[in-house]
Amino acid sequence: MPTKVDMEKIVSLCKRRGFIFPSSEIYGGLASCWDYGPMGVELKRNVKEAWWKAIVQDRDDVVGLDTSIMMHPGVWAASGHIDSFTDPLVECKSCHVRWRADTAEGGKCPKCAGELTEPRMFNLMFQTFMGPVDVKAELSGARSLAFGAPEISGVGVAKLEEQLDRATIYLRPETAQGIFVNFENVVTTSRKKLPMGIAQIGKSFRNEITPGNFIFRTREFEHMELEYFVKPGTDEKWLDYWVKERFNWYVKMGIKKENLRLREHGKDELAHYAKDCYDVEYLFPMGWSELEGIANRGDFDLTQHAKCSGRELSYHDAEAGERYVPYVIEPSAGVDRSVLAFIIDAYEEEEVEKEKRTVLHFHRSLAPIKVAVLPLSRNEKLTPLAKEVFRQLCPSFVTDYDDSQSIGRRYRRQDEIGTPFCVTIDFESIGDKQVTIRDRDSLAQIRVPIEGLDKVIETKLKGEAFDASTLWATREK
Ligand code: GAP
Repeated sequence: MPTKVDMEKIVSLCKRRGFIFPSSEIYGGLASCWDYGPMGVELKRNVKEAWWKAIVQDRDDVVGLDTSIMMHPGVWAASGHIDSFTDPLVECKSCHVRWRADTAEGGKCPKCAGELTEPRMFNLMFQTFMGPVDVKAELSGARSLAFGAPEISGVGVAKLEEQLDRATIYLRPETAQGIFVNFENVVTTSRKKLPMGIAQIGKSFRNEITPGNFIFRTREFEHMELEYFVKPGTDEKWLDYWVKERFNWYVKMGIKKENLRLREHGKDELAHYAKDCYDVEYLFPMGWSELEGIANRGDFDLTQHAKCSGRELSYHDAEAGERYVPYVIEPSAGVDRSVLAFIIDAYEEEEVEKEKRTVLHFHRSLAPIKVAVLPLSRNEKLTPLAKEVFRQLCPSFVTDYDDSQSIGRRYRRQDEIGTPFCVTIDFESIGDKQVTIRDRDSLAQIRVPIEGLDKVIETKLKGEAFDASTLWATREK
């Protein structure tokens, strides 16, 4: 069954409600680049925090790391990215649009049905140059000089070409390599024994030939990656373990099970480093697509880095009394792609009290705003009490204060950004010091005292049942 919502609706809601904007929009945008607005940035932070908590903080066998985006170019030679991180590119001979070969079905241009060139391999890494000298410009100048007087300038060109080679660096296409090259540092300083993992969240860059589908495939994105080091021979067991863990994480964070599935990679689609790989797939509006990959990287990376750096990157297993190069199980997820899946899965159009509403049923821990304080109106008698309530909640939760427009419209707005609870202050609140809490999903309303309201919200955010009598007992004391 296809997903109930099309991508245009999601893109439009994201723009309208401040989740995601096209990058550099006032200049006409930049293809496949997006900016996260006030709601999007909170949602994205919550996704990363939930992942970090599950992968690092709730476990005693995983530690965190934050490595630099720019790394020694030798890293990418060793990892195989310079030679093998490529996609086959074809170009239309009529309209000159370039396509990834596998997206141009039937060997014709998807835009104009024109004839395509033979595929050539295109490296997806972004290159840049390090250092204050513009070697590229100097080289271009030297080359034109050499054209006129090769015997004089040829030497200069060769020298500059060498310099350019040395100045060339790459923006990382995955965070994983930062982990592998720090394996020794982390094992020594953390004193962890195998099996143990190193986790990292950070930006990655890929010069994708065909980015698209909103934030599904972009040229700049964030990775959440775990490299889990295990004893060879136990790798299949751990691959199985992590596939289940990661699948269950999405379910725990609110994604409907029927919109998730697992798919094992065929031998012909495995990445150059992988022995085996499973994708967690989500039913996006364009169909089932990869959400996360969980790969068995074997000892490929540590062996390669040991060979190319000359450093010993093995592990001394004191218990087993042996030394070996660990195997690696790698659950690798995209932050942005997860954000997209969480928004799509939470999206619902419903009829409530004879009115249509759009609502995002986010898991409470992912919702950008946890609670909204809504005085019934801007009446000057209500404002001081409403502000007092806001000040009570604000230190503990991301809280919104909104006193514009009708209360109905404000509820709809909070539904559309997925706020789990709205607290309404009405004229009775002034006398009885009580407020109404409205639940986003059930629409149930309960009246509770302002005193201790933060504890009530805390309980409800944890998803626990709230027993009002306990609060009244506190109040009577
Ligand atoms: N270190 C292994 C690795 O990077 P991958 O399958 O290429 O594996 C892992 O990427 C995840 O990163 C994907 O499942 C996806 O969620 C995300 N991802 C990869 N390329 C992306 C892109 N161009 N835009 C957005 N997310 C991307």
